[in-house]
Amino acid sequence: MRVVWRRLLLGLVMLVVACGSGAQEEEPQLSLVPLPASVTRLQNGFTLKAGDTVTSAEPSVAAQLIHGIEADTGLELKLGAKGRIRLDLDAPQAGTEGYELTVDADGARISAATPEGLFRGAQTFRQLARVPAIPGVRVSDRPRFAWRGAMLDVARHFRPVADVKRFVDLMAAYKLNVLHLHLTDDQGWRIAIPGWPGLTGIGAATEVGGGPGGFYTAADYREIVRYAQERFVRVVPEVDVPGHTNAALASHPELNCDGVAPEPYTGIKVGFSALCPGKAETARFLNDVLKELAALTPGHHLHIGGDEVEKLSEREYAQIVELAAQAVTANGKEVVGWQEAGATVLPAGSLVQYWQTNGGPEDVERAVAQGAKVIMSPASRVYLDMKYDDATRVGQTWAGTTEIDDAYDWDPATLIDGIGEDRIEGVEMALWTETVVTMDDLEHLTFPRLPAIAEVAWTPQSERSFDAFAARLAPMATVWDRWGVDYHRSARITWP
Ligand code: ACM
Repeated sequence: MRVVWRRLLLGLVMLVVACGSGAQEEEPQLSLVPLPASVTRLQNGFTLKAGDTVTSAEPSVAAQLIHGIEADTGLELKLGAKGRIRLDLDAPQAGTEGYELTVDADGARISAATPEGLFRGAQTFRQLARVPAIPGVRVSDRPRFAWRGAMLDVARHFRPVADVKRFVDLMAAYKLNVLHLHLTDDQGWRIAIPGWPGLTGIGAATEVGGGPGGFYTAADYREIVRYAQERFVRVVPEVDVPGHTNAALASHPELNCDGVAPEPYTGIKVGFSALCPGKAETARFLNDVLKELAALTPGHHLHIGGDEVEKLSEREYAQIVELAAQAVTANGKEVVGWQEAGATVLPAGSLVQYWQTNGGPEDVERAVAQGAKVIMSPASRVYLDMKYDDATRVGQTWAGTTEIDDAYDWDPATLIDGIGEDRIEGVEMALWTETVVTMDDLEHLTFPRLPAIAEVAWTPQSERSFDAFAARLAPMATVWDRWGVDYHRSARITWP
């Protein structure tokens, strides 16, 4: 009884306090994802109208903002002087990706230290501009983690350049900044390498299920890099060695220990292939491939894979991974590898990618003991190819089913004992495509988990809660409909 009385009294007190402070209604949350580090509501906003002007010293960022608002709402703004919406490079304290955004009765102003910061701020403004009556607000924002990635497996099923660009657009709208392209695997080789014609002649001509495959020419790859760069997304290419190499082995007999090329492979088993340890051709191949990728890639990192090798001894495995790592550093880049690479000697500045939630993290700990930092990609949280539930029409379940709250509700800094915030470079989701055939399949697995994981990577842990996230996310479905994104209507979200 006493508890009931206390609750009644508390309710009465809260009612009086609410009336006493001007009977403010509880304001609906702004539909912002990822939630900025700091959001303060102001008294007055303004109403955006067709023909309103955007002014910026960075015309490319302003043009992309105009294009984005039109894609989201149909409203057409224009570029010009003395606009109601201004993007200024006048906030040196904001850091590389941070920004300040103010919306008041006079209009909107985004301030940053860099064009990248303006671009991130422009994504926040796009979300506010989803409805034309833009509320007054002051946002001060910067990311929790420097690496906020998405991996796309174009080896199991190839995706043409236009599809990769669309994926980059979806990433950039949620402030992701790393596109990790998984370019090679048992089922397909997707990048042209001078001097190794079989890779594209034979290795690229297959994919899971027997489809035609495909590959990127140097010009295609450069176009992906350019498009991503314009959206402040870095491309990190992965050539997966020493395992996951059947497509390469099938393309060039000289890469095989017995000199005989295996048949191309279109199934979905893993672990059965490996480059030949100790063979001069293996070293030549690694040098040529990583030299070409280094030349094509302006970003600092090349990913050398290293996962799921069952055919080699520990010594043989380490020998090939270390050759690959040396080829990366010889070409002026830094190494990224899946967690298994922690069992080898890693060059300074390396990153390892944690994924294996079914196994122990010992190899991650070995990498960290060598000074490496960690990218968190726990399969049970951020593998986008895991089904949401048993009814999901595509995907796998080996790491469990992953609903949107599973993807959201975890803290990268408490995932592995002893590997805290200071050892973590960031968070990366991964979309393996064994079962992903169409762009609709891809988008269905990606939305709404991409925004959820983007918030894990961007927003301070202390500001995050699933219920608040779900309320901020739901209104975005109207924009996804306009974009034509086939998203999963999770029962954990109250959709409009
Ligand atoms: C992986 O999922 N094999 C990295």
